[in-house]
Amino acid sequence: MAGRFITFEGGEGAGKSTHIRLLADRLRAVGIGVVVTREPGGSPGAEYLRHVLLSGAAEKHGPVAEAILFAAARIDHVDQTIRPALERGEWVLCDRFYDSTRVYQRDGDGVDPELVTTLERVAVDGVRPDLTLILDLPVDIGLERITKRRGGDAPDRFEKEDTDVHQRRRDAFLRIAADEPDRCVVIDASASLDAVAEDIWSAVCERFGLLPAAAELRNG
Ligand code: TYD
Repeated sequence: MAGRFITFEGGEGAGKSTHIRLLADRLRAVGIGVVVTREPGGSPGAEYLRHVLLSGAAEKHGPVAEAILFAAARIDHVDQTIRPALERGEWVLCDRFYDSTRVYQRDGDGVDPELVTTLERVAVDGVRPDLTLILDLPVDIGLERITKRRGGDAPDRFEKEDTDVHQRRRDAFLRIAADEPDRCVVIDASASLDAVAEDIWSAVCERFGLLPAAAELRNG
């Protein structure tokens, strides 16, 4: 497969979707074809399951059922969207992927690690991220941002937890980054928008051997 697969992970309010958009623009400006996608979702079947999961409709069936539904959504997403794009030589930027299942369902909700590993292997079927950017942010700042963004709307199934839960998720993402330093780069998401975008661009250039200066020249 000629394309590259980059996933964005981190807690709520870390700015993943904004930075995915900015990175996509920058890659396109240097002539790279980009597909932007997200989980749960990213294909018609998976978007249907997204609604089931985020509305909380699956919650009453317990964390194992939710983990299975996240995996089912991922199977469809990998088959319908991610693998075909990589085979076309495009770069795939994905808002959340299997690290979120490890953090939310396994470490957070206590789903059996062996089951999570098996579901992960089956769902990705060999399609693993070349680079995972973990946008890291103190929990209070993240929660403040999502409260503002939400306005008067109710929090979704996974936003509604208390501060401790969000802190444990932050720690769990950082553990993954420490365990897999070849795949993961931690980005300080509390910095300014421009500084975070620069850090992300540098990490991508470094990982894939793009030359930032040359890229900027073609960009300008
Ligand atoms: P989304 O609205 O996309 O949130 P965010 O902007 O924070 O990414 O909702 C996705 C939610 O689903 C998020 O709270 C994390 C949760 N999630 C899991 O619990 N497990 C998973 O495997 C994935 C992909 C997401």
